[in-house]
Amino acid sequence: MKSVQLISVAVALVLAASAVSAHRISMQRSPVTLGGIQQMKSATQHRALQMHQHALKRGLQPAGAVVNNHVAPMFNNLLFGSYVANVSIGTPAQNFTVVMDTGSSNLWVPDSLCTDLAVSPSCGIQNLYQNTSSSTFYNSCPCLSCSLLIPYGSGTVMGTLSTDTVVIGGVNLPNTSFGRVYAEPGPLSEWGAPTFDGILGLAYPIIAMPVFSFLPGPFDEMMSRGIVSQDLFSIFLSSNENDTTSFVDFGEVSHEHHTGEFITAPQNSMQPELGYWCVSVNAIKVGSTVQPGTSGIIGVVDTGTSLIAGPPAVVNPIIAQINASTDCSNVASLPNISFTIVVDGNKTHDFVLTPQEYTYRVSFADGSPDQCECGLFAFDAGEGVLPLWILGDPFIRTYFTVFNRGTNMLQFAKSVQH
Ligand SMILES: *[C@@H]1O[C@H](CO)[C@@H](O)[C@H](O)[C@H]1NC(C)=O
Ligand SMILES: *[C@@H]1O[C@H](CO)[C@@H](O)[C@H](O)[C@H]1NC(C)=O
Ligand SMILES: *[C@@H]1O[C@H](CO)[C@@H](O)[C@H](O)[C@H]1NC(C)=O
Ligand SMILES: *[C@@H]1O[C@H](CO)[C@@H](O)[C@H](O)[C@H]1NC(C)=O
Ligand SMILES: *[C@@H]1O[C@H](CO)[C@@H](O)[C@H](O)[C@H]1NC(C)=O
Ligand SMILES: *[C@@H]1O[C@H](CO)[C@@H](O)[C@H](O)[C@H]1NC(C)=O
Ligand SMILES: *[C@@H]1O[C@H](CO)[C@@H](O)[C@H](O)[C@H]1NC(C)=O
Ligand SMILES: *[C@@H]1O[C@H](CO)[C@@H](O)[C@H](O)[C@H]1NC(C)=O
Repeated sequence: MKSVQLISVAVALVLAASAVSAHRISMQRSPVTLGGIQQMKSATQHRALQMHQHALKRGLQPAGAVVNNHVAPMFNNLLFGSYVANVSIGTPAQNFTVVMDTGSSNLWVPDSLCTDLAVSPSCGIQNLYQNTSSSTFYNSCPCLSCSLLIPYGSGTVMGTLSTDTVVIGGVNLPNTSFGRVYAEPGPLSEWGAPTFDGILGLAYPIIAMPVFSFLPGPFDEMMSRGIVSQDLFSIFLSSNENDTTSFVDFGEVSHEHHTGEFITAPQNSMQPELGYWCVSVNAIKVGSTVQPGTSGIIGVVDTGTSLIAGPPAVVNPIIAQINASTDCSNVASLPNISFTIVVDGNKTHDFVLTPQEYTYRVSFADGSPDQCECGLFAFDAGEGVLPLWILGDPFIRTYFTVFNRGTNMLQFAKSVQH
């Protein structure tokens, strides 16, 4: 009897241990404000421009492609409604808050060399990496050039690559490359509260900076060092602002926060050149009506973008049809939007977003009425030439996602929000 009890205790311990991933990093959802939605649009446009510039550099887009390049030069808008995590760099640990971004491939944080606050006022309110305080700092990098230039809209983040111990969730990565940024041009007025310091990229090395350096990012390091048992990570994004239940599980598919079968989507054939996580979208429906111009789309699954974005000629008519009222009064009666995605076996599957899932709702502490806005956004990044859509946070909040570097596939299951 006694031994049976011992066994069941042991089983319970194993179950308890496997309930939460060993390599989990929690993320906090930043607050969403009304002004924040404008900032999200601006940030989305920057991301689109970045994608356009990457595609141009790789010759994937003709140089003549017209891009509507008129947005504010800020990348910092990322902080609104984004998902941030705590990481540390150096010995002893220096703590930083980073945006967990499946749409880029570098880890970078601001550096104590960022002293010109007239140019980079954000450095005055962020945590800055101090190389002299870290016993494990090496001013070395594995590529030809250690100089880091990351274009964001019309501004460029400038820095240098070094190596140090990086700690992410439970994972300790000695001698890992990261960017130390010494210029983050842009006015502080667009920053709002300093909720993040840097970015941790989770896309493929082909888009890591410097261009064509193929610099391994932190997840590549986890794979090559055998830290993860499977070459995949899974992501849950919570829909509650400020809460910390969102996570990235490295090497594991957790059993929490999703329901039903996983649906496997092979990536778009352009993925190896583009370097993003991308699916093939065959159609977008409003209700049951297929929208014109929605076949042959490359859908980039991007945690670093707060909206769903596509070319204006396609998206503007959708936004007009949906006609979400700003006072939220018609949310319940709005149609669903479906993304028909190519899945395993050359089939397609409709990934449905309900109005509650694709609209942003902002509440006010003073009791004034809630305000709503559609989470779809129009941008022009080589429209009709490279049909890139960004399936940003509204999509990933709705569908728990497994990003599999081993199979180069994505898997989606309906997420469970609490
Ligand atoms: C990050 O650290 C701060 C300070 O310790 C903590 O309040 C916050 O909840 C942490 N965020 C996450 C996502 O773990
Ligand atoms: C960094 O974060 C860790 C974990 O939250 C904490 O124990 C440590 O005190 C922090 N270090 C500093 C310098 O704030
Ligand atoms: C390390 O930091 C010190 C003090 O901020 C600075 O003078 C020095 O140039 C830095 N070293 C490197 C390699 O960046
Ligand atoms: C990190 O790299 C430096 C220089 O390349 C080397 O001296 C050191 O032993 C390495 N540390 C670890 C933990 O690999
Ligand atoms: C989230 O945090 C912000 C800023 O700290 C605060 O204004 C807002 O009320 C919080 N929201 C919730 C739902 O707690
Ligand atoms: C959009 O909704 C508003 C009310 O919220 C209504 O006045 C307007 O006519 C609608 N527009 C279209 C094109 O249906
Ligand atoms: C929208 O999708 C949800 C979830 O799939 C479903 O329950 C609901 O019936 C759909 N609404 C309409 C109007 O089809
Ligand atoms: C998948 O379907 C498309 C058209 O629906 C067809 O052109 C293609 O050959 C099929 N691929 C495979 C592997 O069956």
